[in-house]
Amino acid sequence: MSANPFHLAWFLNGFKVQTWNSTWAGPGGRHLNAPALYIDLARSLERAGFDYILLEDSSFVPDGYGGTSEAYLKNAVMVPKGDPAVLASLLTQATSRLGIVPTLSTSEYPPYLLARLVATLDQVSNGRSGWNVVTGSSDRAAQNYGLDTLPLHAERYARADEFADLVTQLWESWEQDAIVENVATNTYADYKKVNPIDFVGKWYSSRGPLNVPRSPQGLPVKVQAGGSPAGRNFASKWADTIIGYVRTPEQMKEYRDDVRARAIEHGRNPDDVKVLFLVSVTIGATDDEAQREFDAGRAASMANPESELAMMGFTTNIDFSRLDLDRPVAEQSADLKTNGHKSVLDAFLARAGSRTIREVLVEKATPELVGSPDSVAAQLDEIMQHVGGDGFLFNQDALTRHSFSTITDGLVPALQRRGLVRREYSSAYLRQNLFEF
Ligand SMILES: Cc1cc2nc3c(=O)[nH]c(=O)nc-3n(C[C@H](O)[C@H](O)[C@H](O)COP(=O)(O)O)c2cc1C
Repeated sequence: MSANPFHLAWFLNGFKVQTWNSTWAGPGGRHLNAPALYIDLARSLERAGFDYILLEDSSFVPDGYGGTSEAYLKNAVMVPKGDPAVLASLLTQATSRLGIVPTLSTSEYPPYLLARLVATLDQVSNGRSGWNVVTGSSDRAAQNYGLDTLPLHAERYARADEFADLVTQLWESWEQDAIVENVATNTYADYKKVNPIDFVGKWYSSRGPLNVPRSPQGLPVKVQAGGSPAGRNFASKWADTIIGYVRTPEQMKEYRDDVRARAIEHGRNPDDVKVLFLVSVTIGATDDEAQREFDAGRAASMANPESELAMMGFTTNIDFSRLDLDRPVAEQSADLKTNGHKSVLDAFLARAGSRTIREVLVEKATPELVGSPDSVAAQLDEIMQHVGGDGFLFNQDALTRHSFSTITDGLVPALQRRGLVRREYSSAYLRQNLFEF
């Protein structure tokens, strides 16, 4: 491998109905009762040496576009959506090296329940589970859990800080050598090494200990994607791996340098925080073929942006049906405010320039690389050289066996030939693979 190999991970945008009506849909993406598509994806990612698959989640039927759920249900945008913990459990049994990371919200779970669920997943995966820590971003979800609204952004992160502390203490409530399995003394576990935590915080409390033993990998891996200052601060304190949601190599470098500096302020080694940047790729046999496919997709979205609009309504809680798609974003910025995903909206406003909502809407806030396996491998190499490390999280719109194989069986071999990514896992555990380089 090169002197500075990087990591790869996959963003699965929900345990949902995938591109059920497209050319390459194939069997398996149409219903939640046919998870074969995800099993094929996970096995392909493992064959390609990915560190982990991150399973996105949300917990409501959206109605943020036009004030009804029509656009969401008609286009299968973020609904139906199954519980990611169930899919995570299935995927652990179809793989043996890939990290499996469900998203679980601190606004929806009690800490003990979450700690136990992830710890159990860690046992059944033999040390490959993680937790994507989110604080929630929709009042609509909060209303499904008995609240009128989500707490405000700053309070959500303050609560999440206490929550992460409590969950970590529960995970540590069994000492590493608590299980002795001594047949001679007929002792399974040493009760002196399994201790209550007696946690009493401002929002949460729990006696402990957890009733699930210590993780095979030490602790399950924490993932976080927080773009705001509060989000970055939380992530650099608690996360083992952070998702960077930015567009240019300069912004990526700034982002990584910032979270590394914040990690040092929290008394951590900055190398203990792996920053992966969201990226989308369109791979073809040649650069021209890839470009044609990208252009066709872009043109289709421009002509019919309903799914993109619904998606923006989903992440920001802003009803985009009230805005004029063909007027500049800047003229309508007074209507663009959120208590939801602040960084998504900020990125939208920042890159708009003098362009219209329609023009900005159809492009991603993160890099969109287009080309043959070799040219995209070269682009990723160049970005990483500029940024200084640690890797990428792929975010692909249309999940089909065809689309993911262009990456796992086209792009990744090109990266491997350049020595930029691993050819084999060195450990059975997610944490150890993540910190291998
Ligand atoms: C790649 C990525 C994945 C995310 N996955 C989820 C998710 O599954 N569920 C969720 O509620 N929020 C998710 N988020 C939102 C983040 O947790 C966070 O709320 C968002 O990045 C905004 O952070 P900020 O409020 O600190 O700006 C995701 C964000 C990114 C960039």
